[in-house]
This record gives sequence, structure tokens and C-alpha cells, in this order.
Amino acid sequence: MNILILQASPRANGNTAWMAEEFRKAAEAAGHKVTLVNVSRKKIAGCLACEYCHGKGNGACIQKDDMQELYPLMAEAEGLVLAAPIYYFTLCAQIQAPIQRMYCVNKPAKATKMALLTSSYSPGVYNAARDEYKDICNYWSVADCGVVTAKLDEQKTEETKKKILEVVSKF
Ligand SMILES: Cc1cc2nc3c(=O)[nH]c(=O)nc-3n(C[C@H](O)[C@H](O)[C@H](O)COP(=O)(O)O)c2cc1C
Repeated sequence: MNILILQASPRANGNTAWMAEEFRKAAEAAGHKVTLVNVSRKKIAGCLACEYCHGKGNGACIQKDDMQELYPLMAEAEGLVLAAPIYYFTLCAQIQAPIQRMYCVNKPAKATKMALLTSSYSPGVYNAARDEYKDICNYWSVADCGVVTAKLDEQKTEETKKKILEVVSKF
């Protein structure tokens, strides 16, 4: 399967980057083709709600920023992995912009499976992230292959790696 991982933490050696990398290694070992994009390093603005895409744009966004690199990858992805830390009780802004910029095409055309990898300092802060992720799975009609969370004492551990491997096995 062609899997796209969107890694949204700005910390290159942080917990989310580690989770995304563990997923990538395991998925490649299982025979998947994996593309990992660090969206936190991209210039991706929020949706303008100008509706150009649903009119004259015929599915194309009027904003010509780094999202242009992502659209073809999203269009080809059969599996999509969101990897994003919790900021203020929800998924960080760096993952929200690329998700919301999918407005012009509505959904990733070929995606059938999704997963969420997320990390936080505290326990009990994942409600909004889970709800958003599950609603997106439903809206895009993709199967939920699992959510892996890692609070402070679970970060970069064998236990978390095991949970990631379980999610990979569902792709
Ligand atoms: C702006 C900001 C907001 C944060 N908000 C929360 C929060 O609401 N709850 C929490 O438990 N941790 C919060 N954290 C901590 C991060 O979620 C945590 O350190 C996470 O592991 C960072 O992931 P990373 O190592 O991939 O960058 C916040 C960190 C930042 C920088």
C-alpha cells in the first residue's frame, strides 16, 4: 500500500517525529511504500474559504504555497497517517492547515485507511484529537487502523513501539 505520513511536530528529534519514524520503518519492512512529509517545515496557510476551488478553480486551490506539493501525494495515498503532538488539548496547528486545505478536493481520492500518532506531556488530553480524527475517518470514509498516544512516561518506549507495530499490521 502507498502510505503517506504527515508529521507535524516542529521538533525534529521529538516524540512525534520518533513515532512517525518507527511507523515508517515498520511499514516499509512490511512491504509498503511510505512517504514521510514533515509538514511543520512547510509553508501551508489556512483555508481562505474563498470558494475559488468550487467555482472557477475547478478543484484547484487559489493559494499557491507548499500545499501544492502535498496535493499530488494526498491524491495518491492509499493509507494516511497523521502524526501530531497535542497543543492546548487538541492536534497542533501544523496538522490542521493541510487537513483543512483538502476542502478543494474534499477527500484524499484513493485513501482507504488511516491512523493517528500523537503525544503529549500529560495523560487525559486526547479527547478532542480522537474526536477530530474519528470524525475525519468517517467523513472521508476510511477505515480507522488505530490511534497511538504517548504521554511523557510512554515516549520513545518499547511499549509504544509495540502499539505502533500493531497499527502498522492493520494497513
Ligand atoms: C504550544 C504547546 C502546547 C502544548 N499543550 C499541551 C497540552 O495541552 N497538554 C499536554 O499534555 N501537553 C501539551 N504540550 C506538550 C506536548 O504535547 C508534548 O511535549 C509532546 O510530546 C510534544 O511532542 P514533540 O516531542 O513531538 O514535539 C504542549 C506543548 C506546546 C509546545
